[in-house]
Amino acid sequence: MKFDYQLLEKSKQKEAIKTIKGVPFGSVRTNHMFLMDYAKGEWKNARIVPYGEINLPAGALCLHYGQAIFEGIKAFRQADGSIKLWRADKNAMRINHSATIMCMPHIPVELQLECIQRLIDVERDWCPNEPDAAMYIRPFMFATYDSLGVKVSCTYTYCIMLSPCGPYYSGGFDKAIRLVITDKFHRAVAGGTGTAKCVGNYGASLRPGEYAKSRGADQVLYLDASNTYLEEAGTMNHYNVLKDGTFIIPAFNDSILRSITSETILELAEMGTELSTGKLKARLEQIPLNDFINGLKSGEIIEAGGFGTAAVVSPVGSYLMDDDTVHTVADGKVGKYSRALYEYYTAMQNGTKESPKGWLL
Ligand code: COI
Repeated sequence: MKFDYQLLEKSKQKEAIKTIKGVPFGSVRTNHMFLMDYAKGEWKNARIVPYGEINLPAGALCLHYGQAIFEGIKAFRQADGSIKLWRADKNAMRINHSATIMCMPHIPVELQLECIQRLIDVERDWCPNEPDAAMYIRPFMFATYDSLGVKVSCTYTYCIMLSPCGPYYSGGFDKAIRLVITDKFHRAVAGGTGTAKCVGNYGASLRPGEYAKSRGADQVLYLDASNTYLEEAGTMNHYNVLKDGTFIIPAFNDSILRSITSETILELAEMGTELSTGKLKARLEQIPLNDFINGLKSGEIIEAGGFGTAAVVSPVGSYLMDDDTVHTVADGKVGKYSRALYEYYTAMQNGTKESPKGWLL
């Protein structure tokens, strides 16, 4: 594949952002973005161009029928100054899974990695070098064919943009968040698009998100459509920690997005990883809401939170129910198991702790 570069002569930089502290997640843009087009069964016109507008016909299928998918990846500045992608091959495989669900074309994993690496190379000065910060990478693909008939597009564009970032929640790891548990909204159902990172799932999450905010909470913890089991929180998978330190993640099904952070934590547990709190224990389990609430009340559940690329490990301090009952997780503060896992995980990402071969690319 030939890559074209149309680079700005003078970088619009960077001096503007001395630190990522206090900068809202996702608000910063770098100078350039990557674009590549698909037609007649082929990806072509790979190019790095100044960040900006994208031309689309008003009838582009992505705008009308939501044929659009994305990923969230992070790259980290290492002690030697290099920049490494964290498990980006898993994200590349996941966008292809989303593409299958949304009847869109795959992009070879190696090609996706090359596109990301080339854009990072151009924008390397933008990668933050401070604690809890990263270069957030947003690859996305959308249908460009002009049609008002509801159908699968025959043309697409793949784009990558970058956004230096700090923590997803403004309080960072140390401020436990509050989730609402409600039977008013559901994220996905069996047989739907729940395992895809497609834009429709996030569009549908806006109203529940506003509802959570209106009740003084950060986000909704979704239940399955029968209101029986815990599912996920939309921007992150959910976990709770039992008294013996075991992390329990709701069992993946076809209405939960498989978080790469969750999968990594399950793999680390399988490998017998030692945290400062002892051996990491983690497993998937279907979690009935009633058992979960009883566990919070009885003290069997001592910590909880979310796992995600943007969220990393985000502790939850309390749950607000539809009838205004609040269930606090232990003392409502960040617990030692979540902290030990967060410290281990982020140390692997910035290279101060060794990670399995191939995880930092
Ligand atoms: C990510 O963790 O990359 C996500 O997809 C969350 C995002 C929607 C902010």
